[in-house]
Amino acid sequence: MNLNDEIETLLAANVPLIQLVTYEEDRVIETIAALSSKLGIYAWDMAECKFTAIRAASEPFPSQDAASDKVLAHIAEKAPRGTVFILKDFHLCWSRNPVIVRKLRNMVRQLREKGQFLVITTPVNELPVELKDDVAVVEVPLPDADTLENVFTGVTRSLDSSSRPTPAVREKLIGSALGLTTNQARLAFARAYARKRQFDESSIDAVMGVKRQLIRESGALEFWPATAGESGVGGLDKLKDWLRLREKAFGQQARQAHLPYPRGIALIGIPGTGKSLSAKMLAGQWKLPLLRLDVGTLFGSLLGESERNMRRAIQLAETVSPCILWIDEVEKAFAGSGLESAGGAATRVFGYFLTWMQERQGPVFVLATANDVSALPPEFMARFDRTFFLDLPNRLERRQIFAIHLKNAGVAFPERTLRFEELVERSNGYVGREIERMVREAQFMAFADDNREIEMEDLLKALEETIPISRSHAEVIEQLRKWKTEGRAFPASSEETAAPVAGRRILET
Ligand SMILES: Nc1ncnc2c1ncn2[C@@H]1O[C@H](COP(=O)(O)OP(=O)(O)O)[C@@H](O)[C@H]1O
Ligand SMILES: [Mg+2]
Repeated sequence: MNLNDEIETLLAANVPLIQLVTYEEDRVIETIAALSSKLGIYAWDMAECKFTAIRAASEPFPSQDAASDKVLAHIAEKAPRGTVFILKDFHLCWSRNPVIVRKLRNMVRQLREKGQFLVITTPVNELPVELKDDVAVVEVPLPDADTLENVFTGVTRSLDSSSRPTPAVREKLIGSALGLTTNQARLAFARAYARKRQFDESSIDAVMGVKRQLIRESGALEFWPATAGESGVGGLDKLKDWLRLREKAFGQQARQAHLPYPRGIALIGIPGTGKSLSAKMLAGQWKLPLLRLDVGTLFGSLLGESERNMRRAIQLAETVSPCILWIDEVEKAFAGSGLESAGGAATRVFGYFLTWMQERQGPVFVLATANDVSALPPEFMARFDRTFFLDLPNRLERRQIFAIHLKNAGVAFPERTLRFEELVERSNGYVGREIERMVREAQFMAFADDNREIEMEDLLKALEETIPISRSHAEVIEQLRKWKTEGRAFPASSEETAAPVAGRRILET
């Protein structure tokens, strides 16, 4: 239901207390004013301490001044029948003064009899429990494309036709502003125009820039720059194959072929095996924006705030789609959201996310990474197209990982200058992160020793100094591996036996 219909229905049903959760007071007032009803409309805020007529009521309203502690009594005693009173930020009044809460409840009957409505606008969805039964709460959705089109028309009205955009650019501009409030959109359009004194393709970037900024400010979402493609990740051939097969799935052609959108994958397994790295790599490979959702920052102290933040984060992600929504360390993100803590904010936020995962239509690819998902409910895992398990790297994979990091450290041909096979052999049981650290350690040793080339001895020394997690936490690793051995996750890599031993060729390409 859109906002018009929703408000219209509430007024027709004679619901006298309505809370609209939004920052956009002006848009709400415009919406109410545009309804076909004949009700008078007055707006009040606690700074002005008076009622301002948006549309005068049919009865007189003799005294329109009212301070915040008197405003309800004023309405009850002096205000005309058949009127909507818009009380801006009224939650600040009731949170300071419990008498106001009681007074609101006392007024319900009289309001109904006189055909009066109190529309309370608040930026956050918080309502005293005492009012839960009496107040209809409406979360005002962000403006749709039609509304933004009006905003855009407003901004461009005074421009001469040469600085107006082509219809195609106009449509894209309006699309790129989805997710912004009307005020933000107006500002974004104005700024985009100010840069070049005209609207063209580059204006779209400017509007997207505003949205990126907003996403950054939201705290919960973070833009990750798309880094290099899959070449920076060693091994994981099966995962890479799966992703490569879907590389073009978000493009125009795929739409024409009625290809469904890939929905998401979970990467689980041993720490340091390249799960987070793969997420970053995927954005580069698919050329999609990568948004990291930091679930921890969603939680707020106010009732309902956490879910609202979650909803807002997801809404924002949807407006930049197609994109990849990455939840790193998902088991920590939703820790404590098991059924035993039902009623807690974590449970509700998690529940909201689960529902969204199930019902969403748009091209938001969810990538969840986690070490241990045994505490997460099975229905969560079931929402993904596939769950991959990242195990300890096999011989071929270690060879590739060493090559990547040695190359980064300036050793272009390790198989010629080092006893490479010995290194690969001796690092059995080490994960990618440990290999990377070893190479870095060796780099420091070589640099400290008169900035020479990295030698075999440096690497072996670093290797001896590193106790791999597979040894220090053998039982934990065994436990994690059950996901693979029990067939609950697909291996991200081929079995070692199937891997070609000719590492040389791979390294030199
Ligand atoms: N398969 C790999 N190929 C290349 N580097 C890797 C690989 N796995 C891990 N690394 C190195 O280890 C670092 C940490 O890996 P990360 O992806 O954060 O591990 P996790 O699986 O715990 O998320 C990476 O930034 C990268 O330098
Ligand atoms: Mg990680």
